[in-house]
Amino acid sequence: MAIAIRQLQKHFVGEVSGLDLRQPLTPDQAREIEAAMDQYAVLVFHGQDITDAQQMVFALNFGERENPRGGNVIKQGEHRLDSPLNDVSNLGKDGKPLPREHRTHLFNLGNCLWHSDSSFRPVPAKFSLLSARVVNPKGGNTEFADMRAAYDALDDETKAEIADLICEHSLMYSRGSLGFTEYSDEEKEMFKPVLQRLVRTHPVHRRKSLYLSSHAGRVLGMSMPEGRLLLRDLNEHATQPEFVYVHKWTLHDLVMWDNRQTMHRVRRYDQSQPRDMRRATVAGTEPTVAQQQAAE
Ligand code: OGA
Ligand code: MN
Repeated sequence: MAIAIRQLQKHFVGEVSGLDLRQPLTPDQAREIEAAMDQYAVLVFHGQDITDAQQMVFALNFGERENPRGGNVIKQGEHRLDSPLNDVSNLGKDGKPLPREHRTHLFNLGNCLWHSDSSFRPVPAKFSLLSARVVNPKGGNTEFADMRAAYDALDDETKAEIADLICEHSLMYSRGSLGFTEYSDEEKEMFKPVLQRLVRTHPVHRRKSLYLSSHAGRVLGMSMPEGRLLLRDLNEHATQPEFVYVHKWTLHDLVMWDNRQTMHRVRRYDQSQPRDMRRATVAGTEPTVAQQQAAE
């Protein structure tokens, strides 16, 4: 069966049919999906009842697996999954929702802020592939913002102002904005800020995107308040409804997005009930800017 892609009302989202992700892709199929990712930036697959291993095999068509170290506050031995997927659920090792005050839970609430995955890493993520294993009964939609369209819609003066700006990104900035501020020395070292361009160019089609994320907390060359106000204004602009697709999850949906051209967030949901989401993350291949400048 041939792959078919239907463009949703939001132009940057394609709904894919004609693929069974339990089976390995042929090289042609993998090329077709990658080209569709470049074109759309978000792809939705329905009815994919896959294992963790099948999800990872699918992801590895598009690059290497991203090393998850440094992305959370979970201690060794506390991991619920024994697969290489990122656990984006609200569940503990016992399979039950984490207690309200559990530190991991509080940290994970940061996913409700608009972000681009791993913008806190020197080489940020390329694609993320999120699979719905248990859908929460209330809330929990995931929203995506098209950062190419958001960039294109800026006026020329703003485009010129931000063209070469560089931001510091850290998990401590996104979590800090929610009042999560206590870290061990090891975590402080792990979450040290990295640098990212504010405008990035896609390596294939060369379109520019606003590279925003709640992890961004400082703009080099600006005072903290001035930089944060600029970032707030840009975030407000980029997340207007015209640029946003809202995904309402159905069991066994898989949604795949390009972190280089989109931001996303999950909406609040019923934390007393399970929500089991698992993510395979494809590593990026290059930094957006040389990191040495962090030394100043
Ligand atoms: C992620 C993420 C949102 C969600 O997996 O990177 O932000 O809907 N998840 O759980
Ligand atoms: Mn995310």
